[in-house]
Amino acid sequence: MTPRLLIARPVPDAVLARARRDYEVVLNEGDLATDRAQLLAMAEGAAALVAAPGRPFDATFIGGLPASVRMIATFSVGFDHLDLAAAKARGLVVTNTPDVLTDATADIALLCLLGAARRAWDGQKLLRAGEWTGWTPTQLMGWHLGGKRLGIYGMGRIGQAVADRARAFGMAVHYSNRKRLPLDLEKDAIFHADSDDLLRHSDAFSINAPATPETERFLDARRIELLPPNAIVVNTARGTLVDDDALIAALKSRRLFAAGLDVYKGEPKLDPRYLELDNAFLLPHQGSGTVETRNAMGFCCLDNLDAFFAGKAPPNRIA
Ligand code: DGY
Repeated sequence: MTPRLLIARPVPDAVLARARRDYEVVLNEGDLATDRAQLLAMAEGAAALVAAPGRPFDATFIGGLPASVRMIATFSVGFDHLDLAAAKARGLVVTNTPDVLTDATADIALLCLLGAARRAWDGQKLLRAGEWTGWTPTQLMGWHLGGKRLGIYGMGRIGQAVADRARAFGMAVHYSNRKRLPLDLEKDAIFHADSDDLLRHSDAFSINAPATPETERFLDARRIELLPPNAIVVNTARGTLVDDDALIAALKSRRLFAAGLDVYKGEPKLDPRYLELDNAFLLPHQGSGTVETRNAMGFCCLDNLDAFFAGKAPPNRIA
């Protein structure tokens, strides 16, 4: 019997076509079902669910799933929207989509760094307001990447890809991580066992660690004070790692030069004070947003499901 699959958020056409070829698909068309009760009703008779960030599968949701559900495949590498303990307690298999979005997310981290450093928002505003009066020797002077130190907090796959890109811009890479990397992956990067020490050595600071209870509000007022004056903060991981009050205050007071942010606490309702800051370069969680990457994420999800329903170990099992 073809397993029934609830796809809880719309996915790219190529992914949907493959899913429809191999599964009996129930799609949350147009993303219209947003609350727990609606999605639970759609899950009736499903053998598996495709989850995605933005729709939390919390303990109550997972507890309410019909007994037919055996697996959750999330269309993401991050899984802070899933209650893994609740899934495990229900005996559900859970998978994610690592690797395929590493390059796209690292590209966006560099876009955020460059956007913040080179005052891309100021430039856009000036031009679009019709207020540009032409080149001048002092116009929109930014912050030069070459020769500066980039501190990377969380040197997993994405952190390492950010490091490779930063090297190409002539930056020296420093990092902290739960474990020091082997030399072939570390390359010339300088390891700091203590994240406070990393902050002191970071002209720009890129957050690339996962959202966990331990990393919640990691970048707070005390740690921002450890950064050199005029530093830049980049976040392409999760908004919960930042204390918004502290970051906004440091941007307002110009203690920091700028921030480049792709993720926010409480998305999509980011703290509105960010929108008033000229030294905040802001994107709406676009890290993995290329056609190639989103297709690859969807296919990775389906590879995990296919393996499970073929009685094999799914390649990216997280619970
Ligand atoms: C993920 O996969 O966790 C990303 O944040 C989506 O871009």
